Order: sequence, then C-alpha cells, then structure tokens
Amino acid sequence: MPEESDLERLGGRTRLEELISVFIDRVTSDPMIGFLFRNVNKDVLKAREVSFAASHLGGGPYEGRPLRDAHTRHRIMGGQFNRRLVLLEKTLREFNVPEDIRERWLEHTRALRAEITRDGSDECVG
Ligand code: HEM
Repeated sequence: MPEESDLERLGGRTRLEELISVFIDRVTSDPMIGFLFRNVNKDVLKAREVSFAASHLGGGPYEGRPLRDAHTRHRIMGGQFNRRLVLLEKTLREFNVPEDIRERWLEHTRALRAEITRDGSDECVG
C-alpha cells in the first residue's frame, strides 16, 4: 500500500473544501482583516485557497497566481499576517486535522511571510 498523503489523511478534497470555506468566511468577515476582501470574489478565492492547500498537502497542482503577485497591491502588514494565522489554526483545530499535519501546515504558512507582507516583521517595533 502506498502511504496516504496529508490530504487523504485529513479526509480528502471535499473535507478540505469544507474547511477552507469556513476559514475564508471567517477571514473575510473578520473585524481586523475582513475589509481587505471587500472587492474580492469569495468563491474564486475559496477555489484558489483549496488549490493552494491541496498542493502543499500532496494533492495536485496550485492553479492560482504566484502569492507575491496576488498580495502586493494589498500592502499587508505583519499583524494582519498573524491574524490570518490565528484564524487558520483555530479552523484546523476545529476540523480535527491531525496534529502533525496541522503543525506542517502552520509552518508552511509562516515560511511564506516574506511573500505576503510588506514589512516582513513578526512583531511591533518600538
Ligand atoms: C501564507 C499566507 C497566505 C496564503 C497561503 C494566501 C493564499 C492566497 C491565495 C491562494 C490567493 C488567491 C490568489 C489568486 O487570486 O490567484 C490569495 C488571495 C488574497 N489574499 Fe491571501 N494568502 C495568505 C495571506 C494573506 C493575508 C495575511 C492576507 C490579508 C490579511 C491575504 C489577503 C488576500 C487577498 C485580499 C487576496 C485577493 C487578492 C486579489 O484578488 O486582489 N492573504 N491568498
């Protein structure tokens, strides 16, 4: 038997779609970062986030834009990046994603900070 991918272990593509749907609803209605998504098509965003997550969970290619291209115009700050991370962790816990997959997923996200934010810092300065 070939080893199961992380995507298979967390319940497959349908389960991932449910998780991302809840996550993106949370992100786009969040008091701190929701405003950034005012002019963004939520269904398209969900589909691309699913494609992106599936790609790092061992379930096929990412079909969206390079992350740097998609995020530059939004001028995202470190604190906003951290907020998305908090919402992601909360959602992964609620969906009972196995701990090792959850930790890999969060680490994968943290490693992308420089692609997404314009200040690149983890903390407030001063
Ligand atoms: C590592 C963390 C992140 C990942 C993996 C990620 C992933 C994605 C993906 C896959 C897309 C779709 C790209 C496309 O349209 O082809 C997207 C778009 C977007 N993301 Fe992120 N994102 C991250 C962090 C953030 C943060 C921190 C914010 C804001 C707080 C944010 C705001 C947005 C917005 C506003 C769009 C829509 C872009 C547009 O159509 O203009 N993202 N993101």
